[in-house]
Amino acid sequence: MSVEQAVAILRGGGLVAFPTETVYGLGADAANPNAVARVFEAKGRPRFNPLIAHVPNVEAAARQANLPPRARQLAEAFWPGPLTLVTERRAGADVCELACAGLSTIAVRAPAHPLAQELLAAFGGPIVAPSANRSGHVSATIAAHVREDLGDAVGLVLDGGASEIGLESTIVAIDESGAASLLRAGAIERSEIEALIGPLARPHAGKVSAPGMLESHYAPRARLRLDAAAPHAGEAYLAFGAPASEGGLTLSKRGDLTEAAANLYAHLRALDATGAEAIAVAPIPARGLGEAIRDRLARAAAPRG
Ligand code: TXA
Ligand code: MG
Repeated sequence: MSVEQAVAILRGGGLVAFPTETVYGLGADAANPNAVARVFEAKGRPRFNPLIAHVPNVEAAARQANLPPRARQLAEAFWPGPLTLVTERRAGADVCELACAGLSTIAVRAPAHPLAQELLAAFGGPIVAPSANRSGHVSATIAAHVREDLGDAVGLVLDGGASEIGLESTIVAIDESGAASLLRAGAIERSEIEALIGPLARPHAGKVSAPGMLESHYAPRARLRLDAAAPHAGEAYLAFGAPASEGGLTLSKRGDLTEAAANLYAHLRALDATGAEAIAVAPIPARGLGEAIRDRLARAAAPRG
């Protein structure tokens, strides 16, 4: 397992999973449409759902995307880190059209995880990487979960330990007029972004602005029941702000949202593995990181397509 091997696999059009501080990514050479097609296949992901191009820094992002002043401002404040920017794709971008699902926009992110940075530096070009899980399933926050979901479809998994944050990046779209909207709540809180560039609009209803955000997503096998004060008979219980009950788990005994985010996906996978038909989840406050946690839980609980 080495970055050198990973680069060789990427150059050959293969897939490499790598850690980021949010969740593990399933990486491919963004400029190689065959490699990008393999990402969609490995995940069972619909091709209308575009991928994030990972880059080492703002300069590298600016070669792929037109970054209006507000986008640059956010990039300079939060990169490398758990923020993804969606802006107009630059003419002559290396990132292939398939990766952008044919849209005129592109999603770019500079991750902070040292292994991700090492990989990007050694590869020398943008790497597309969706979360390294089967499409619609819970994201992977440890290398073993990547293997569990994707098996042999991925050539190599770079093991960087457990993802520090455990929730996907915040996605902000900035259009050419500078209007900013929150496409996905995530690791960076809305208030942190609004403090810099002012209020974020919600994406237009009915417009497919982050295609991956529409359907049921982030879902375990078991059914989910949210805002549950206590489990019903036969349910596994995911507590918050209290110790785990018997056979259950707690996101954070002391009610800490950062700790809850880091535990969310691994705990959902673990409770799923108990074979329980349903998982009841304690109420999570909507403040701060709670917005993103509640968003993922709501999608995990949504009717399955
Ligand atoms: O934390 C993360 O963001 C992780 C790590 C690996 O970087 N990646 C991740 O990728 O969560 P994925 O593919 O699971 O989610 C990316 C989301 C999808 O909902 C997709 O629809 C949206 O980003 N997206 C990508 N390009 C877009 C674009 N041009 N316009 C709107 N949404 C876009
Ligand atoms: Mg995903």
